[in-house]
Amino acid sequence: MADSALVEIANVQSDRVRWYCDQLERGRILFFRSVPFDFPQADRDFLLSQKQTGSRFHKNISYRPGQDILKGVSSDSPDRERLHTIMRHFSQQAAEFIARLLAPYATKLKMDFASFRPLEEMNRDLPLHKRNDLLHVDAFPTRPTRGARILRFFININPNAGRVWNIGESFHSFMPRLAKAQKINPPFRSSFVRRLIRTGATLGLPVTERSRYDEYMLYLHDWLKESNDFQQNWPKQQLVFPPGCAWMVYTDGVPHAVLSGQYALEQTFIVPPEMFVMPEVAPVHVLEKITGMQMG
Ligand SMILES: [Fe+2]
Repeated sequence: MADSALVEIANVQSDRVRWYCDQLERGRILFFRSVPFDFPQADRDFLLSQKQTGSRFHKNISYRPGQDILKGVSSDSPDRERLHTIMRHFSQQAAEFIARLLAPYATKLKMDFASFRPLEEMNRDLPLHKRNDLLHVDAFPTRPTRGARILRFFININPNAGRVWNIGESFHSFMPRLAKAQKINPPFRSSFVRRLIRTGATLGLPVTERSRYDEYMLYLHDWLKESNDFQQNWPKQQLVFPPGCAWMVYTDGVPHAVLSGQYALEQTFIVPPEMFVMPEVAPVHVLEKITGMQMG
């Protein structure tokens, strides 16, 4: 990988907002040495203190901005209210910042969930498809995007240790070669089954209506984790995100693996296809070219 994967942003320049979107869409990571908005030390300390709460230890806390709901903390926990306030504040701040930094997206950017990840990532005992330490691209089983992209903003609030990632080449670069070298055949639903599911969804049944794109990306997520060849032989590089830094990346387009790190915050955004500044490098476009099929 000849190009540097990281683009460091020291301060936001309003005449470069389109370029920031362009760089992200091409698979670069925008990197900030410190959190680019107000995130009080007292809030960080409170989140870091979550490790010492013994039986009240929280595995993964998520926040849903649309409904202002906190998940992953028991309702009788004395920490609940403060955690909710901190996550709400983080989520709002991240949204305001992204709308300014990535102004071309601002009008149609959709906020997805935020999360706090207090567990040490090294040596977690997880089933293969759930492992974070294997290279993969993100796809959401229950929240299909139909070709929209998954943009994630992270903060490493750990004051003592970096968060270590491996990343692979960007989607438009590795995927055409991978599809040529390997048989990747997602079991697409037939149009009949697709219609049935759509009907079920309109009737309020608990079914997830996925496009071909979502089916392909979910299959690819698992396929990449299962492939020893991809994990070991395809180009990758290690990055260390130091204490207190922030970064953002399209995690559906940059294969990533978290090797170690503890205490990260993350806010996810969904960017619809009509907002892409470089539509030709978007995974939906790349897959349409590879398969010759309509994906969205
Ligand atoms: Fe991921």
